[in-house]
Amino acid sequence: MQVLENLVSQFTEELKGIAKTADLLNLKAKYIGKQGPLSEVMKGLKDATVEEKKRIGSLANEVKTSIEALVSQKMQELEIAEINSSLEKQKIDISLTDSVLDKGLEAAGLHPVAIIQQEIEDIFISMGFEVLDGPHIEDEYHNFEALNIPDTHPARDMQDTFWFADKKHLLRTHTSTIQVRGMKERKPPFRFVGPGKVFRCERTDASHEMVFHQLEGMMVGENVSVGNLIYFMKTLLTQIFKKEVEVRLRPGFFPFVEPGFELDIKCLICSGKGCSVCKQVGWVELLPCGMVHPNVLKHGGIDPEKHSGFAFGLGLDRLVMMRYGIDDIRHLHSGDLRFNSQFKTF
Ligand code: FA5
Repeated sequence: MQVLENLVSQFTEELKGIAKTADLLNLKAKYIGKQGPLSEVMKGLKDATVEEKKRIGSLANEVKTSIEALVSQKMQELEIAEINSSLEKQKIDISLTDSVLDKGLEAAGLHPVAIIQQEIEDIFISMGFEVLDGPHIEDEYHNFEALNIPDTHPARDMQDTFWFADKKHLLRTHTSTIQVRGMKERKPPFRFVGPGKVFRCERTDASHEMVFHQLEGMMVGENVSVGNLIYFMKTLLTQIFKKEVEVRLRPGFFPFVEPGFELDIKCLICSGKGCSVCKQVGWVELLPCGMVHPNVLKHGGIDPEKHSGFAFGLGLDRLVMMRYGIDDIRHLHSGDLRFNSQFKTF
């Protein structure tokens, strides 16, 4: 009883000197953990009388509850103090210094994704392609159904996709929606590209973001073949990198193309040796592509007996990373001026 009676006051005394959450947890363990005095008292109860067990047991419970209450109160205080101190350190500069207004055009520049997007648009325009746009908010038909993605396909999972409350609309998960809209409005032959933001419910890492950019491409006409597809992909990559880059083509499954391919680029961050961007594989998935599935052509009002086509969906952010040697995709959306100002184009 004596041990128990002194325990709360001893604990309160020691608590005064605690300034970190880790120390608080250690102190808690010292008093009411498995090796602590409270456990020792409880162990000793096995030889006590029923009356003693009742008295000591109930006091022990009271002591434990009091110490726990003191710990949670202190924990709250420490957390608030920690938040306040980190807020004090991380001051956000909301002034307009370093802005275009302050420093004129010297301070401004295009974002690297915009730079690459414009370059690619120019390359494709020079090869006779149109540039199309499409909405970010899509319906199931344009994002999935028209692309031969059935109800049961994992891409429709609530986890992968940001749905609206009506469960009918979503933020587009890929720019392939532009294929569907583009086909409906045209008669073959035609060729177009469609760049833009896409959204996925993803866990982010060095090469994955939740909001990123793709550039869709499509060419439909008589006798369009895999040969045409490879020609355009090669032209694109040599013009963007201004040098020969090592690529590999392997089979890839997408419900809207048949056959489908994954075009990977040898990782330019680690020269193929393996790093966090290529997940130690040496290759980065960049440009999935394939021959447009007959069902997709039909949804676009095109007769697959007469016309064929290819399509591709380039990951713009990863291309930017490869070209500039950026080792983490999250820099691209950080809004950090130290990062952005390295790409000034003026
Ligand atoms: C697609 O989205 C298909 N619509 C592409 C396609 C179009 C295939 C036409 C065939 C024909 P995928 O989910 O693999 O495919 O994404 C395409 C590219 O986007 C990837 O190769 C990658 O470069 C990029 N990408 C995918 N997920 C992410 C992400 N979370 N963060 C950054 N880039 C990503």
